[in-house]
Amino acid sequence: MTTPSESLGFIHRFIAAKEPDSPLTLLLLHGTGGDETDLLGLGQQLAPSAALLSPRGRVMENGAPRYFRRLAEGVFDLEDLKARTHELADFVEAAVQRYHLAADRIVAVGFSNGANIAASVLFLRADVLAGAVLFRPMVPFVPDAMPHLGGKPVLLAAGRQDPIISPEETERLRRLLVRAGAEVTVHWEQAGHGLAPADIAAARTWLRGWATSRGDRVPTKGRTPRGTAV
Ligand code: MLT
Repeated sequence: MTTPSESLGFIHRFIAAKEPDSPLTLLLLHGTGGDETDLLGLGQQLAPSAALLSPRGRVMENGAPRYFRRLAEGVFDLEDLKARTHELADFVEAAVQRYHLAADRIVAVGFSNGANIAASVLFLRADVLAGAVLFRPMVPFVPDAMPHLGGKPVLLAAGRQDPIISPEETERLRRLLVRAGAEVTVHWEQAGHGLAPADIAAARTWLRGWATSRGDRVPTKGRTPRGTAV
């Protein structure tokens, strides 16, 4: 069942889990200019039986939805970012109640701007996430006080030819997350800012490992990723 909705503070889509005993929910966070429908196909490829929760960013930049304001490419309005991070975390908590989701099985899957706000949620409101897949993320900000991520698993998927995000930026984010206690895996791809099929395959394998490590039942088959999803 797909539910388009404007409730809970964000225009969003919710797709219930395909199997009643699948506790995983993917929180899908699109890139700049995307919307709540963009990553639904990616979510289905990554975890075919999971519930999908996909909010549209509430900030408009020349007509392009985003999750927070920026002053220039890679220069973030930190006050807005932090306020929007709390808004998004509140939305996730409300969605857990509304859709009867397992609060300890919400994994963010963010691309670009969506990955950046997911990293910000890890720094400010880590309790709402069980882990995160960050496709092409940057350091959203350096937290004043390091959060305690207590072994939360995080996958960083970076492109070696990304014109927006340097390898040093990815390494900076990795180090910050490790300092905060996250269990970080970095997947490097011979790709730019857009996703390559191997990024998706890596995330799918990582998610299956995540679910298995928690004793969740993992379906044995699903669609094979084809082409670039984003
Ligand atoms: C951002 O603004 O979050 C990053 O620069 C990525 C982007 O959306 O281009």
